[in-house]
Amino acid sequence: MNKPRNDTLLRALRCEPTPYTPIWLMRQAGRYLPEYNATRARAGSFMRLCQDPDLATEVTLQPLARFPLDAAILFSDILTVPDAMGLGLCFSEGGGPRFERPLADEAAITKLGAPDFAHLQYVFDAVAAIKRALDDSVPLIGFAGSPFTLACYMIDGGSGADFGRTRQLLYMRPDLLHRVLELNAAATAIYLVEQVRSGADALMIFDTWGGLLTARSYVDFSLAYVERVVAEVRQRCEHSVPVIVFTKGGGQWLERIAGCGCDAIGIDWSTDLGEARSRVGRRVALQGNLDPQVLLAPPNVVEREALAVLRAAGPEPGHVFNLGHGILPATPPDNVAALVACVRTHSGVLHRQASRRTN
Ligand code: CP3
Repeated sequence: MNKPRNDTLLRALRCEPTPYTPIWLMRQAGRYLPEYNATRARAGSFMRLCQDPDLATEVTLQPLARFPLDAAILFSDILTVPDAMGLGLCFSEGGGPRFERPLADEAAITKLGAPDFAHLQYVFDAVAAIKRALDDSVPLIGFAGSPFTLACYMIDGGSGADFGRTRQLLYMRPDLLHRVLELNAAATAIYLVEQVRSGADALMIFDTWGGLLTARSYVDFSLAYVERVVAEVRQRCEHSVPVIVFTKGGGQWLERIAGCGCDAIGIDWSTDLGEARSRVGRRVALQGNLDPQVLLAPPNVVEREALAVLRAAGPEPGHVFNLGHGILPATPPDNVAALVACVRTHSGVLHRQASRRTN
């Protein structure tokens, strides 16, 4: 596999010096882009976009054609894995995801098995097609949901208010929840390794709902399974691939997350990056953490807030600029352009000052 010409993301994830801070944005291919909405309309649905490697490639490249971003992220969804376990994923028009056959009772959980990986071939084909289209320009990030975040959707059946069924099961029948998490962890590890074999240069695990848990259950029901996934990926991949772990609402557990075997921690906007750095030391890179709401403000506010994130991250290597969560559909694309330009220019100045100080 050839190395991308722009490898600033991969270097920053290894905490190596870079001439500027690399930037990509969660949900960078999405509804804030008119060209995304046009392709999605042509495809007919979000799932058809994901399942057609040519269309998935087209939308993956759209934000890169507009902005000088330092990475592409596979266009897909975390819920493809439970879909391939037979739960029947559907997206209502304008609404969130739903499973036709959620894990409604003990019998459903007992019957649950490994996914049919033939039903996930479209994801691996999309990775390979995107990798070819990128032509070694920037790295491609593959991803999966954390075992716990997948379980939230599988048990509650869709985007509930607070995934109360899943959290009830944790107290009432922890054995059943552990069974689901074990299956999810095993499936997720294979799913990520296949993405690497198909061309992914880095991996991200989205633990969007880990922050709903108590401190004790976060470790036992989410982080322990993320750790298992990371260890298996490391064991099965022929070459080393950087892994980013993002727990939304996980700011209070950063030291523990830093010890799960990952290379980088995704930080949401509620934690100060400077404080995060002093807590985890230089063991891992940090990714984040501009509040996505900032991108709805005028460009001068975007620049002011982006500078605040860069200053909090500090001049040392090991920061990847990103949002604290996905970009909002109402974001004006011009603000994204202003953000990317601001990060490139100002981080370049900061990095030059830092390297003069150390030379
Ligand atoms: O970041 C990217 O550009 C890559 C693509 C990507 C999508 N989903 C595309 C998508 C990624 C990395 C995801 C991950 C994902 N999917 C997560 C974890 C990250 C996060 O946002 O917390 C979760 C929880 C899901 C499940 C999911 N998919 C939900 C809850 C929704 C509905 C909410 C929404 O934003 O509409 C989706 C749909 C979805 N996934 C869209 C996109 C672009 C919008 C679909 C559309 O076009 O209507």
